[in-house]
Amino acid sequence: MKKNKVFVACDTTNINKIKKIINETQSSKLKVGYKFGLEFLNSKNGRTFVSRIKNKTVFADLKLHDIPNTCASAIKAIKDLKVDYLTMHISSGLDALRAAKKVSGKIKLIGVTILTSLDNKALREIGFNKDVKKIVLDQAKLANKAKLDAIVCSAQEVKIVKKVFKKEIITPGIRFSSNTNDQKRTLTPKEAYRNGADWLVIGRDITKGNIKKNVEKLIDHLNQ
Ligand code: C5P
Repeated sequence: MKKNKVFVACDTTNINKIKKIINETQSSKLKVGYKFGLEFLNSKNGRTFVSRIKNKTVFADLKLHDIPNTCASAIKAIKDLKVDYLTMHISSGLDALRAAKKVSGKIKLIGVTILTSLDNKALREIGFNKDVKKIVLDQAKLANKAKLDAIVCSAQEVKIVKKVFKKEIITPGIRFSSNTNDQKRTLTPKEAYRNGADWLVIGRDITKGNIKKNVEKLIDHLNQ
């Protein structure tokens, strides 16, 4: 049977905590990759640590959001890390997406749609007046046009994205505990896979508290 795929979000600056997360999330029942974001990659030793990881699926969640030249230059600058996946905001625009794709080479370029921490009210506050689902659909069309390799979206929008984007779909905002923290558009792991997500991104529900127990809890939840 195909294993469920999960990226564990390694959101800390503490190298020992990262090592613990990696050790304690090894499982024969899941395919686990590791996501390093702005917090770890901007920390003093984070970049070097990531450059030395071997035999793991590594995702650099840089969330680039800039003009075409800067996005392309940033991708060239991070290439030595040999990560498998890298994110950029689709709202950087089609030219920036194309410029990034032109230089990304073997790295899978992931387009990030509207953040899972935003709801319609928060979107209106920043001047986006369309419904979140409509914006995400437009963004997925753009990602398809720019030939991106994957999309990050809320698990609530996977079915919409799938209509126009046929490659990998990665969903953060996943909760199997009752604490949603700062996330607004959440679903459970089971619901996310059922909707068609290829990979889930899970941070705090795995990394806070007893990591091994949390992984067991996730596996139990998926088997129920
Ligand atoms: O702890 P939690 O499971 O909420 O972590 C989610 C992770 O996914 C964080 O590292 C966050 O930066 C990332 N992410 C997200 N929403 C997006 C894109 C990435 O939560 N739209």
